[in-house]
Amino acid sequence: MSHDPNAVGTTTDDLPTLPTDRHTGCPFDPPEGLTALSDEPMRRMRYADGHVGRLVTGHAAARATLADPRFSSRYELLHLPEPMEGMPGQIPPAPIGDIIGLDAPEHTRYRRLLTGRFTVRRMRQLTERVERFTKECLDAMEEAGPTADLVEAFAQPVPALVICELLGVPYSDRERFQSQVATLFDQTADAGAKGDAHTALLQYLGELVLAKRAEPTDDLLSDLTTSDLTDEELAGIGGLLLAAGLDTTANMLALGTFALLSNPDQLDALRADPGLAAQTVEELLRYLSVADPLLRSALEDVEVDGTLIKAGETVTVSVQAVNRDPRRFPDPDRLDIHRKATGHLAFGHGVHQCLGQQLARVEMAVAFPALLARFPTLRLAVPPREVPLRERSNIYGVVSLPVTWDQV
Ligand code: HEM
Repeated sequence: MSHDPNAVGTTTDDLPTLPTDRHTGCPFDPPEGLTALSDEPMRRMRYADGHVGRLVTGHAAARATLADPRFSSRYELLHLPEPMEGMPGQIPPAPIGDIIGLDAPEHTRYRRLLTGRFTVRRMRQLTERVERFTKECLDAMEEAGPTADLVEAFAQPVPALVICELLGVPYSDRERFQSQVATLFDQTADAGAKGDAHTALLQYLGELVLAKRAEPTDDLLSDLTTSDLTDEELAGIGGLLLAAGLDTTANMLALGTFALLSNPDQLDALRADPGLAAQTVEELLRYLSVADPLLRSALEDVEVDGTLIKAGETVTVSVQAVNRDPRRFPDPDRLDIHRKATGHLAFGHGVHQCLGQQLARVEMAVAFPALLARFPTLRLAVPPREVPLRERSNIYGVVSLPVTWDQV
């Protein structure tokens, strides 16, 4: 039987909006306001345009929602939880190649084509390259040290080199695409700036696709030119992969290092046993939940976990809250690299579950232990409170991470 504990006697104005303010408390914890709402796994919430939808903070409810094809990912059906600069109430449909905003059968067609090329085996084969790029970045950092901005010296270049290698995008062109990708994820950038960044990114990828068609090389983009995808689709997919590959892992590496430096017992445990690297990566993914939130829209009336979601309602899945659900992860606010954190939803769940997750895991499992082994005395160069946080971005992280170490 369905029930709606929040419906009776509540006016729209009384309903909560999505809490985003992290100014108080620990930089790794969800906003306090969000934690306060997490007693109810699927509560009613007011959106930026006044729409009344849902906020999911429970792990079981989130899994059920994300796995259910009656919930759509199409952008044009969604309401925004927070106001976005210059964005009208309605979000435009996904641009060509942006498979995150598509449903079956369009999504299935693209996803099948890509999954075949993103196998665990292929990603593991990239390990050697990841190791080489990691070493090169650490060498440069050590030589320029004994202080560095870890974001610029390590967390950004390692994933950038890897995604460029995988796609066949020249790393030397990064001036052309890095700032555009940053604008796309920046929630303070207005719709016009985002549009310009997207057009410029697609133009760059479009030129690259033509070059790959004319002269294929040994990389994913060239490989995809042998499929039935059009040039426009290829440029769009290339842009999505480049953007996702550049920013997400980079933020995990920088914020993850900050979290480890802030939890010396965990840092020491990982240093003492690098065999814990894979497990540490899962726990950091859970604990930090940098890609948040995920949005869906009900295509019909759906009952989830005993709650009726009406057709047309937007559902905001708060990955941060879900990954701290005490019913799923005991003592959830503790970073504990010995716990089995698998089952977290940091990579999403269901048909849109992250395509690059194996690659991201390989990168992090190599990069964290290598960084700690190279700099046994690595520490923050500023008080923790002075580390600037990337709060108004689709991907959470730090703007910079000043670090220092003793030279030997
Ligand atoms: C630690 C790093 C990463 C995190 C936390 C992350 C997180 C996510 C999440 C939560 C989703 C689901 C979105 C939704 O359901 O609406 C997703 C989808 C996706 N990710 Fe990642 N991601 C990471 C790294 C990467 C990398 C390295 C790549 C590319 C090589 C990538 C490519 C994609 C793509 C293409 C999708 C869309 C899949 C689809 O819609 O079928 N991600 N990612």
